[in-house]
Amino acid sequence: MAILLAGGAGYIGTHTAVEFLNAGYDVVIADNLYNSKAEAVRRVEKITGKAVSFYQIDVCDKAALQKLFSEQKIDTVVHFAGMKAVGESVAKPLMYYRNNLGATLTLLEVMKEFGCKRFVFSSSATVYGVQNPAPFCETMPRGECSNPYGWTKWMIEQFLMDVCVSDPEFSAVLLRYFNPIGAHESGLIGEDPQGVPNNIFPYITQVAVGRRPLLTVFGDDYDTPDGTCIRDYIHVVDLAKGHVAAVPYAEAHKGAEVINLGTGKGTSVLEIVHAFEHVNGVKVPHAIGPRRPGDIAVNYSSADKAEQLLGWKAERDIEDMCRDGYHWQTMNPMGYAEE
Ligand code: NAD
Ligand code: UFG
Repeated sequence: MAILLAGGAGYIGTHTAVEFLNAGYDVVIADNLYNSKAEAVRRVEKITGKAVSFYQIDVCDKAALQKLFSEQKIDTVVHFAGMKAVGESVAKPLMYYRNNLGATLTLLEVMKEFGCKRFVFSSSATVYGVQNPAPFCETMPRGECSNPYGWTKWMIEQFLMDVCVSDPEFSAVLLRYFNPIGAHESGLIGEDPQGVPNNIFPYITQVAVGRRPLLTVFGDDYDTPDGTCIRDYIHVVDLAKGHVAAVPYAEAHKGAEVINLGTGKGTSVLEIVHAFEHVNGVKVPHAIGPRRPGDIAVNYSSADKAEQLLGWKAERDIEDMCRDGYHWQTMNPMGYAEE
C-alpha cells in the first residue's frame, strides 16, 4: 500500500515525502510541475536512499489519475496540489477556482471509483478569516476569506465535510497550516519560489545571500509590542511530520476532523529578522514600508488539538528555522535552477 502525495514535488510535499519514506511508507507523487521541479523529487530520493514513483500529471486530468490508481495501490491521499499566491488569486480568480477546486473534485471522484477512503488535506489558517481573535482554535467558526485562494481552502474543507456525511466510511483530516518556513537540515530541499517571493521567509533568505538588496517590512504601526505583524512560524520538517501523524489517525477514525498545525507561539516580523541575523551571523538589510493590504496584525494557533489527537507537536524553534532555511539558500542560491 502506498501514500499518494498530490502536489508532492512542491515545498511542503517534498519535505513530507522524506518523512513518509523515513517512516517506512511507499510514496507516489503526482505533480504537473507547475510550481516545482523534477530535481526536487530526485533530492528526496537522495536524502532517503529510497525510490519514489513519480507521475508528472495534472491532478485535474481524470484519465491520468485513473491510470495512476490502476497501477498503484493507493491507501491514503495527501493533497497538496494547488496554486497558492494570494495576490495572483485576486487577479485570476477563475484560474484558482478551476485548478484548486477541480483538482480536489477529480481526486475525490477517482478515489471513490477505486474505493480509497482516506484523505489528508493542506488547508490554511486563512479560513479563520479576519473576525476571529488569535489564538485560532478549531472550534471557532470559519470566517470570511479576503481572497479567492482562501475561499478555495474554505470550499474544499466543505467538500470534504460533505463527502464524510455521504460516506460514513470516509476519513478526512483537514490540516490548517500556519506559516511553514525553513528547510530540511541536509540543505538539499527547501523553498524555491518563482520570481519575487510573496512570503517573508524566502525574501529574507534571498536578501541574506545577496539575490535581493533589501527587505521591506510591511508596516510597524500595528497594535503589537514592536509594531510589526505577528505570525506562527512552523518548521517545514515539523509540519511534514504532522502529516505522518495524521495517517494512523485517519486509519483509526472516520469522518472529518479539522486540526491546526502550528506552534502556538507568535513571532513578529522584526523578531524573525533579528533571529535570522543572530543565528546565521549575517546582515539582512531591511527598511520599514507601508502596510500590505489584507494583512492582519496577529495570527497564531492554538496547538493543543494536534497534540491530543495526533500525539504530535512542533519541536523546532525559530533559530532552527532560520539556520536550516539559510543553509538551504546558501547551498542553492538560485534554488533548484542551478541543476
Ligand atoms: P508548492 O507550490 O510548492 O506546492 C504545490 C505543488 O502542487 C506544486 O509542486 C505544483 O506544481 C503542484 N500543483 C498545483 N496544481 C496542480 C495540479 N493541478 N496538478 C498537479 N500538481 C499541481 O506549495 P506548498 O507551499 O508546498 O503548499 C502545498 C499546499 O499547502 C498548497 O495546497 C498550499 O495552498 C497549502 N498551504 C501552503 C502554505 C504555505 O505557506 N506554504 C500555507 C497554508 C497552506
Ligand atoms: N512581510 C513583510 N515583508 C515581506 C513579506 C511579508 O513584512 O516582504 C510580512 C507580512 O506583512 C506579514 C508577515 O510578514 O506580516 C508574514 O507574511 P507572509 O506573506 O510570509 O505570510 P502570511 O501570514 O501573509 O500568509 C501565509 C500564507 C498564506 C496563508 C496565510 C494564512 O502565505 O498562504 O499565511 O495562514 F493563507
